[in-house]
Amino acid sequence: MQLTCTEIRAETHDVNTYLFESDQPIDFIPGQFLPLQVEIDGDSHSRCYSLASIPGDNRYALTIKRVSGGLVSNYLADNARVGDNFATLSAGGEFHYQYAQQGKLLMLSAGCGITPVYSMLRARLQADPDADIVFVHSARTPADRIFPRELEQLAQAHPNLRLCWVVSEGAESGQLDGQLDARLLLSLTTDIRERTILMCGPQGYMEAAHGWFDALGVDPERVFHEMFAPVSGDNGPEPASEGAGHTLTVADKAVNIDGSQTVLEALEAGGLPIFAACRAGVCGSCKCKGDGEKLERTSVGPLTPQELEEGYFLACASRVTGDMQVTLP
Ligand SMILES: Cc1cc2nc3c(=O)[nH]c(=O)nc-3n(C[C@H](O)[C@H](O)[C@H](O)COP(=O)(O)OP(=O)(O)OC[C@H]3O[C@@H](n4cnc5c(N)ncnc54)[C@H](O)[C@@H]3O)c2cc1C
Ligand code: FES
Repeated sequence: MQLTCTEIRAETHDVNTYLFESDQPIDFIPGQFLPLQVEIDGDSHSRCYSLASIPGDNRYALTIKRVSGGLVSNYLADNARVGDNFATLSAGGEFHYQYAQQGKLLMLSAGCGITPVYSMLRARLQADPDADIVFVHSARTPADRIFPRELEQLAQAHPNLRLCWVVSEGAESGQLDGQLDARLLLSLTTDIRERTILMCGPQGYMEAAHGWFDALGVDPERVFHEMFAPVSGDNGPEPASEGAGHTLTVADKAVNIDGSQTVLEALEAGGLPIFAACRAGVCGSCKCKGDGEKLERTSVGPLTPQELEEGYFLACASRVTGDMQVTLP
């Protein structure tokens, strides 16, 4: 599929929204991402970007923040122009509208993590204009808020949508000054334990948030999150013991896996169809099912506690310690 950029909007000093038309319709569920292929100096680089738009919008929107030292995000900010073409694969990801379509919601985002949550918010309000939703977005300064006008308009049109801005520097009238913590969160959502929580933001924010949920007695099964970057210090699974060779059985096909390979690498080498967008244990697109006792996982990404219990794992972030049956999605 090919995307053509038709507009670039500056959202903040380091975040742009790129609007695209596609040469063919792209099926996606709000909250999902596109694996965008970007050519830089003759090499193709793939990065996942959550769609900030919803199905039915006339263009596909990706909202991308510069990452310090990052190749693709800075290349796009400095070089992308209206008329540029980019290849993309199909939309993917498990952090999507399935979790947002019913019940009371608490949507939490920080920085560019707003994109999948915003898309799900719009989809839910379109389907259910009276949905009871608390939407809390954290930003460093008022000018770093993403989609402020769009969200204010949604809050005006939907009285059951409560919008809260948490700003750590220079908060203005109507914004909460400081950083979110368990006490503030409880004051914003006294019924937090009754809500499904959808969350996306930087690693430190999400780690802190899980601590608040524990402190507030939130059932972990009600919390769904997306990560944009691997957990720091996680450079992929360590090779298993040297020379260790095992067999992965997928339906009626067997492939070998050696101690230096991730399950993803072994399945790909064996010609098995597996989609892996980030290859870094982040996006969840390479989710497979196996035997938890034979797995060494370095990341569980967006997998839920229930999925982990059921033996799901991320093929790109797992090695095996024995022969294993694998079920592909
Ligand atoms: C499912 C998914 C959805 C995503 N959606 C969005 C989105 O909507 N908007 C958006 O701006 N980004 C999004 N990302 C992040 C995006 O895919 C890239 O990782 C990001 O743009 C950085 O790419 P880069 O080439 O500039 O940096 P790289 O050259 O790949 O990385 C440079 C350094 O920055 C670190 N790094 C990579 N990504 C991040 C990050 N997000 N935050 C902090 N450090 C990072 C790397 O570990 C590395 O050390 C998403 C990622 C995933 C997995
Ligand atoms: S490819 Fe993204 S988690 Fe494995």
